[in-house]
Amino acid sequence: MSSANSPVIVLVPGAFGTPAGFDKLLPYLKAAGLSTHPGPYPSCNPSDPTTATCSNDIVALRDDVLLPLLRQGKDVIILAHSYGGVVAGGAAKDLDKQTRGAQGQTSSVIGLIYVAGNITLENESLFEAVGGSYPPFIKVDKPSKGFALIEPAMDVLYNDCDRALAPELEKHMNPHALMAFETKAGAPAWADAGFDGRRAYVRTIVDCCNPVGIQDSWIGKSKVKWDVVDFKTGHMPFISQPQTLATQIVKFVDSFTAI
Ligand SMILES: *[C@@H]1O[C@H](CO)[C@@H](O)[C@H](O)[C@H]1NC(C)=O
Ligand SMILES: *[C@@H]1O[C@H](CO)[C@@H](O)[C@H](O)[C@H]1NC(C)=O
Repeated sequence: MSSANSPVIVLVPGAFGTPAGFDKLLPYLKAAGLSTHPGPYPSCNPSDPTTATCSNDIVALRDDVLLPLLRQGKDVIILAHSYGGVVAGGAAKDLDKQTRGAQGQTSSVIGLIYVAGNITLENESLFEAVGGSYPPFIKVDKPSKGFALIEPAMDVLYNDCDRALAPELEKHMNPHALMAFETKAGAPAWADAGFDGRRAYVRTIVDCCNPVGIQDSWIGKSKVKWDVVDFKTGHMPFISQPQTLATQIVKFVDSFTAI
């Protein structure tokens, strides 16, 4: 696994979070010989929330993270959480092995792993994909106009985590620009045949933020096949069950590198 051309896992956080939220997972991935790379995007805590569109997120992840890694000849596997699934789906468009191979390129995005990933269809905003209204725990225009926060974080995001960790976990919550949720994503990469056999979805079945019924409806409306694995966790399995999740990620990586 640790050969020069073993894939890099790009860590794309959900809204309100940064790649540092995946830190508990890293020692286990490292022990398995996998390297990782942060995959941030600008709508998390920007200086100006009125320009923080979903398409800016997609362009930033693609141009600043994915393409540079591919240019170095590295294959990439994307691990995307929650809203990160919307960003990653757009950013990986046409970076699959089939499309890149046809262009004479040897490196590509060889797999997509969504963890409780929010899924939007082509030209659909996340706000539309969640039914045109925000759930009560998304506090609109907090801490200031154009931003949102999730409250209460321990109940919504960390319901299966040790309550004693609350002060540490609550520090991971950043204001997120609402505009990112309300502007349209482009065409998602996962819809393409180039990702057949290369899509995985971790269903978090006691998730209070993305209830499992909504995860199911998104997987269904994607109309493509995902390798779905259930985790009996809340929204943040990389915090509550990092070792088990890392073991599962290694299995997904092995299956993506085998084809
Ligand atoms: C999405 O929008 C673009 C640009 O307006 C358009 O060309 C494309 O056909 C749309 N796709 C779908 C599935 O509606
Ligand atoms: C993701 O979807 C869930 C379920 O509909 C929703 O509660 C949550 O607000 C969405 N995420 C964002 C960032 O809007």
